[in-house]
Amino acid sequence: MNKVKANSSPDSIIKTNEPLIEIKSLKKYFDVTDRGKKHRKLKAVDGVSFHINEGETLGLVGESGCGKTTVGRTMLRLYEPTEGSVLYRGQDITTAKMLPYRRKLQYIFQDPYASLNPRLTVSDIVGEPIDIHKLAANKKERADKIARLLELVGLSSEHANRYPHEFSGGQRQRIGIARALAVEPEFIVCDEPVSALDVSIQAQILNMLEELQKEMGLTYLFIAHDLAVVKHISDRIGVMYLGRLVELNDSEGLHKNPQHPYTRALLSAIPIPDPEVNRQRKRIILEGDVPNPLNPPPGCPFSSRCSYKKDICTQQVPELRETEPGHFVSCHFAGQI
Ligand SMILES: Nc1ncnc2c1ncn2[C@@H]1O[C@H](COP(=O)(O)OP(=O)(O)OP(=O)(O)O)[C@@H](O)[C@H]1O
Ligand SMILES: [Mg+2]
Repeated sequence: MNKVKANSSPDSIIKTNEPLIEIKSLKKYFDVTDRGKKHRKLKAVDGVSFHINEGETLGLVGESGCGKTTVGRTMLRLYEPTEGSVLYRGQDITTAKMLPYRRKLQYIFQDPYASLNPRLTVSDIVGEPIDIHKLAANKKERADKIARLLELVGLSSEHANRYPHEFSGGQRQRIGIARALAVEPEFIVCDEPVSALDVSIQAQILNMLEELQKEMGLTYLFIAHDLAVVKHISDRIGVMYLGRLVELNDSEGLHKNPQHPYTRALLSAIPIPDPEVNRQRKRIILEGDVPNPLNPPPGCPFSSRCSYKKDICTQQVPELRETEPGHFVSCHFAGQI
């Protein structure tokens, strides 16, 4: 890709060799009260670092509650980070005023039913970011922009005056995508954008997101529960467990050579279409549930469910080590099991 020097203004779309967005040792702790009414810190994200290059899709997977949404929201400062930093084109935006960056950094929500205000028309919903960022000079320009955005996501300008309840789940998600695109962003957190939709609709939305990425040069953080959904769409994939990143590699490498026992378990849960291969394959069953994040196991967060557990695993948190170029694993026995 042809890349030139960055400008410090978030308005410049000049490309750089730097990662588009990066998080360093990002932590997000929530103040909660436990059953005994004691105030506690829930470590939803506990020191996660990664970068995403321009035009790239980083998939982020892991079981429910492992902190995927919290990573996505904290990196866009929809939640304030507890510790660590967020960099956009090399600039630290951890404490910056976010309004100018909101134009570049957008979020598509998991639930297309809850994320659209039922009292607003489609035109109001998609037009809101246009108004906030003053992207249309007059009413006609605004209406034209909205019509173009609706067409871009496979809807039509006739839909502009309707309300969210008049649409199917897939169409609502298209409205949510049009709203995110209205500001011509560079980076979008796609937070399980298809998991609430019928399987038949999921592929349509995924394909559309891929097309839009190519056309508009978008960069994605793509959050999903399971590896099957992100495999095709992601260049690289990060696997999270209990607020931490346990493995990160390019999509193919992660599937062919998973090194963390948790990644292996996730992969073994994906059905393979060939029944013969499926029968021969060893399924790794994960024992027990994800621990309560208020009472994580000592040492490695996965130790309480890991069949390879040794003494050190309950004594020391394993570092995220680069075991081969671009392949990071947080396991004391990576490469040996
Ligand atoms: N606003 C909040 N206040 C307190 N705790 C929270 C808040 N948001 C998330 N949590 C807790 O932080 C942890 C991580 O939650 P998060 O929603 O980021 O997980 P997730 O991986 O996105 O899960 P899912 O796959 O179900 O969407 C969970 O234990 C959750 O209960
Ligand atoms: Mg989530």
